[in-house]
Amino acid sequence: MKTLILETPGRIAAADTPEPGRPGAGEALVRVHRVGVCGTDIHAFNGKQPFFNYPRILGHELGVEVVAVGSGVANVKVGDRCAVEPYLNCGKCIACRRGKPNCCTDLKVLGVHTDGGHRERILLPAAKLHPSAKLTLDQLALVETLGIGAHAVERATLDAGETVAVIGVGPIGLAVIQFALAAGTRVIVIDVNEGRLAFCRDRLGIATADLIDARSADVVAKLKELTNGDLPTAVFDATGNPKSMAAAFEYPAHGGKLIFVGLFPGDVTFNDPNFHRRELTLFASRNARSADFPRILQLIEEGKVDTTPWITHRAPLANVPALFESWTKPEAGVLKAMIELTD
Ligand SMILES: NC(=O)c1ccc[n+]([C@@H]2O[C@H](COP(=O)([O-])OP(=O)(O)OC[C@H]3O[C@@H](n4cnc5c(N)ncnc54)[C@H](O)[C@@H]3O)[C@@H](O)[C@H]2O)c1
Ligand SMILES: [Zn+2]
Ligand SMILES: [Zn+2]
Repeated sequence: MKTLILETPGRIAAADTPEPGRPGAGEALVRVHRVGVCGTDIHAFNGKQPFFNYPRILGHELGVEVVAVGSGVANVKVGDRCAVEPYLNCGKCIACRRGKPNCCTDLKVLGVHTDGGHRERILLPAAKLHPSAKLTLDQLALVETLGIGAHAVERATLDAGETVAVIGVGPIGLAVIQFALAAGTRVIVIDVNEGRLAFCRDRLGIATADLIDARSADVVAKLKELTNGDLPTAVFDATGNPKSMAAAFEYPAHGGKLIFVGLFPGDVTFNDPNFHRRELTLFASRNARSADFPRILQLIEEGKVDTTPWITHRAPLANVPALFESWTKPEAGVLKAMIELTD
């Protein structure tokens, strides 16, 4: 079957790989229809993804259809279209035992630590499939990204009427905004990219006054001005930029929360008196929980979340080896590229 293999940084090759075989107990064989391209894939392509092994079949944002199921599978049947929860956890470690499989000590993310969905068919644990009869294949492939935002917002336990700030509005920051809005908060958006700020205004209904261009503004002064001097009670950083993450300790209100959704391989330092005086709470947010998936499917089905405007680029699988590098360039303006394996 047709497969793309990231052989080394910078080189994706088309290959013919063996069929995955019949599903065993608890497994499903799925046909891959759509694969979203994520920052993680781009870091892997550029050789900047820590602990990444080559060769690797990328692809963890999947819209799939069930082709066959093994014994004991009850949550999906042949023909179901599903979103995929790509977090393969051990089920035994301290995090798994305490209901936090998203940060399993032995977590393997499909398409990152194990081979993913840049291929026609793949065997998956059926429990990781989340079906929807209503969503389009594109929408199904974008559920995983939304899950990152849903989980970060869940970590923050927001109250309706709170004012929050989201720094960095790539797909991850956009996902955070969707769920912060769904929680009834006012969202102030901070970025250094005019196009992305405009996208938040035009597509998510963020007020023009609540958009901050961090290149030109004194962010703390602007946040105070927008909140009667209070500052936002929760601040999400989704930049993956260490300078932004360090600066973000200045942004939350006294008693507020700082949630790191973006990540980078290095140290973040902060001023302890500033942290203590405000009695800040700092959260890391990693991946998403299983329960987030059906909740997200429902929100999209009800029209409360719409991710289709995120898709800026599309290509069939066969064109990806030639196109992928162009998608990694900032001037291409990719928000979300979608790979199509079928019509
Ligand atoms: N928590 C998780 O499980 C999880 C999952 C996937 C990705 N991530 C991380 O989330 C982060 C964002 O991912 P993405 O795909 O949306 O990335 P992206 O590069 O598309 O978006 C980042 C945004 O941050 C903005 N930005 C950069 N520096 C800034 C600064 N100093 N001030 C304000 N804005 C700034 C950029 O203009 C851009 O719009 C990355 O670090 C990624 O690794 C986390
Ligand atoms: Zn991703
Ligand atoms: Zn575990």
